[in-house]
Amino acid sequence: MKNCLRQAKISATGMYVPDHRLSNVDLEKTVDTSDQWIRSRTGIVERRIVANGQACSHLAVEALRRALELRGLAATDLDLIIVATVTPDMFFPSTACLIQERIGATKAWGFDLSAACSGFLYALSTGAQFIQTGTHRRVAVIGADVMTSILDFKDRATCVLFGDGAGAVLLEPAEAGEEGIIDCLLRSDGAGGRYLNMPGGGSLHPASAETVAQNMHCVHQDGAQVFKFAIRGMADISSELLKKWNYSVDDLALYVPHQANIRIIDAAAERLGLDRSKVAINIDRYANTTAATIPICLAEAQADQRVKKGDLVMLASFGAGFTWGSILLRWTM
Ligand code: ACO
Repeated sequence: MKNCLRQAKISATGMYVPDHRLSNVDLEKTVDTSDQWIRSRTGIVERRIVANGQACSHLAVEALRRALELRGLAATDLDLIIVATVTPDMFFPSTACLIQERIGATKAWGFDLSAACSGFLYALSTGAQFIQTGTHRRVAVIGADVMTSILDFKDRATCVLFGDGAGAVLLEPAEAGEEGIIDCLLRSDGAGGRYLNMPGGGSLHPASAETVAQNMHCVHQDGAQVFKFAIRGMADISSELLKKWNYSVDDLALYVPHQANIRIIDAAAERLGLDRSKVAINIDRYANTTAATIPICLAEAQADQRVKKGDLVMLASFGAGFTWGSILLRWTM
């Protein structure tokens, strides 16, 4: 990437979560679980959930609007909108098209990208290519999911883990001397598909009374397998990327891991030899918002001034597929 004509940089961030909070204590009333179990096994205290009629595109539009406002740009300044999600409003048209119309990005084209919890990193890497080739100047990259739309609220092993939310970043060409996005390492291993999936509703098992009766339109997972792969996956790819650029964890100002479970985050940080004070954590407030966790963390880090111009920041994710990856970037704002 260093050899390309121009680097891409993140020039703004934005986030949006629905107002309604669903606490562990609320869940205790509807499913056989406890606040104590959820806190100690996952680090989650509460999550946000959508109101009736609120869908993925609605959350995404709000997150994108905030990023545009922060940067002082209009929606008409956008060239491209990439949306990472596994919970689109509908199969088609794409969520990107719905957002494009609603926000008034009349000069932009767009598409959705599916890589579950790694969706934002896949999308960020994809968006950066359009800047680097010089064909696009302003790309919106959004991670948005309404996980509550695909949860079985009778299954305590999954329904306590997820929440709804959206995060957005703008990508623009870096100025001379700015590094911006330094490098991306992305991986997938389809052999992991059996451990985490939603089997119903696609062309293999089209929606029917039977697929509904068999709960095939909800998240199914082997939590222990995902847990094990996630720690190794995130830590090892981050380590590989740091080594490639001759950096150590001491050079990082902030590590932003996907927020699936505080124990996964802590174990991955330990495997990397990274101090917890450098790790972005908000799983206690939002749970796992799938493609949205990382851009939400970035928006909060910017709002709290936890990152400053010149800081080295590393992103890492692991999710269904399996998909995983890490991105190294220099903060330029
Ligand atoms: N409340 C109370 N008890 C529970 C709950 C709950 N909500 N959920 C499970 N249990 C019980 C189980 O039934 C089990 O009981 P048993 O021993 O009597 O059978 C016991 O708790 C222990 O279950 P484990 O599965 O061993 O618990 P573990 O410590 O592994 O934690 C968890 C489970 C939280 C799911 C963990 O494995 C995990 O976080 N895995 C990763 C999940 C993940 O990140 N998924 C999303 C990936 S993101 C994406 O791409 C969409």
